Amino acid sequence: EGDVFKYYTDGEWKKSASGKSVAIINPTTRTTQYKVQACTQEEVNKVMESAKIAQKQWAKTPLWKRAELLHKAAAILKEHKAPIAECLVKEIAKPAKDAVTEVVRSGDLISYCAEEGVRILGEGKFLVSDSFPGNERTKYCLSSKIPLGVVLAIPPFNYPVNLAVSKIGPALIAGNSLVLKPPTQGAVACLHMVQCFHLAGFPKGLINCVTGKGSEIGDFLTMHPGVNCISFTGGDTGVAISKKAGMVPLQMELGGKDACIVLEDADLDLVAANIIKGGFSYSGQRCTAVKVVLVMESVADALVEKVNAKVAKLKVGPPEDNCDITPVVSESSANFIEGLAKDAKAKGATFCQEYKREGNLIWPLLLDNVRPDMRIAWEEPFGPIVPVIRINSIEEGIHHCNASNFGLQGCVFTKDINKAILISDAMETGTVQINSAPARGPDHFPFQGLKDSGIGSQGITNSINMMTKIKSTVINLP
Ligand code: G3P
Repeated sequence: EGDVFKYYTDGEWKKSASGKSVAIINPTTRTTQYKVQACTQEEVNKVMESAKIAQKQWAKTPLWKRAELLHKAAAILKEHKAPIAECLVKEIAKPAKDAVTEVVRSGDLISYCAEEGVRILGEGKFLVSDSFPGNERTKYCLSSKIPLGVVLAIPPFNYPVNLAVSKIGPALIAGNSLVLKPPTQGAVACLHMVQCFHLAGFPKGLINCVTGKGSEIGDFLTMHPGVNCISFTGGDTGVAISKKAGMVPLQMELGGKDACIVLEDADLDLVAANIIKGGFSYSGQRCTAVKVVLVMESVADALVEKVNAKVAKLKVGPPEDNCDITPVVSESSANFIEGLAKDAKAKGATFCQEYKREGNLIWPLLLDNVRPDMRIAWEEPFGPIVPVIRINSIEEGIHHCNASNFGLQGCVFTKDINKAILISDAMETGTVQINSAPARGPDHFPFQGLKDSGIGSQGITNSINMMTKIKSTVINLP
């Protein structure tokens, strides 16, 4: 009680002059678990200034030294996986085992950034002029990648640590400095993660972490003239940020309505297992979750039966007990999910399980016979509810998938590889998984959304490249 976690800038942990704090509500107990500083705009200005100064030096630090520090941070992060995972359990109700996995995955991601960075940033290009019409061989062009400057990183609540380091790792290896604005739910896990970078011995001001109310510092941060790049993961806020941001490169990973297209020849046991994993892991609170199943009518009954048998086995309860289904992040999120379920009920969807909710805990629910006039056919529940739409042709499935405003990932289940490739080509999504549920990882794979699902591509290599600019020097011979 009373203890407020400090924010981090200039290599120090500080209290905000505002004297105010932001409460983090534990989704399970629905009481205040932690408090963080409510930073002011003035403090943001100072943070930006520190980041700007530190970056200049960092850009001159040899690449191998930057890599060495990142490897160190990765090792420290992994050593401290237990207390960080504990925060994830309390702040975002992530099942205990998954919380540990998130931290370990983050350590691996940082190390991979270091390795990938020394390779791709250690190479430049050399061009000669005489390949372009009218030119003699009198100009030599040397080009290499230089950092952008200050990167503003805004991760979402569902992977506060992992989606923070997926921005921090590439930014730092490429020679940028960082201002991190953690999500409120997950802020304390982020602060612990930042402490691991602190212990690794990064220079003062290079990494900064400001906490506070979106209404006070949100726009102020994203529209700040000191920001040279924004990497954001989250929902609709990303669209608003894109409209307001200045002339800086944007990396946006927003929502998804990932479709799972099931053909008649699919291995239905495999499909059912992937609907469970894809639709219900972390209670559906993943942008890459399976958010609509489009199954051929002839195999729909059999598939629904198999999925229902598995839903019945899901453990529902607190994250501390490693339950499969845990409370969703907030009361308003639970209310939104409930609204989608009620709408589907009113419009005649088949409830394969009884709808049940206690506080923020919503029991897993498969909705069969969903039709396009129901909200759940199009909207992202970000909760443990999976709609099934029965289709009579592959075209119908592709059509539904492509009618969505989102285009993050999708998946198709069939034993016919030719059909799978044709369907993948026809689906307007950033990635299509053949015979597996959508997923971002492994973290060096390209990860991108089409349409409203995002701007740019992530994945370690793409993020490093995105956080650099090309600089050329041309030698003009007489
Ligand atoms: O929702 C965030 C998104 O990046 C999902 O990641 O690893 O669950 O596919 P993942």
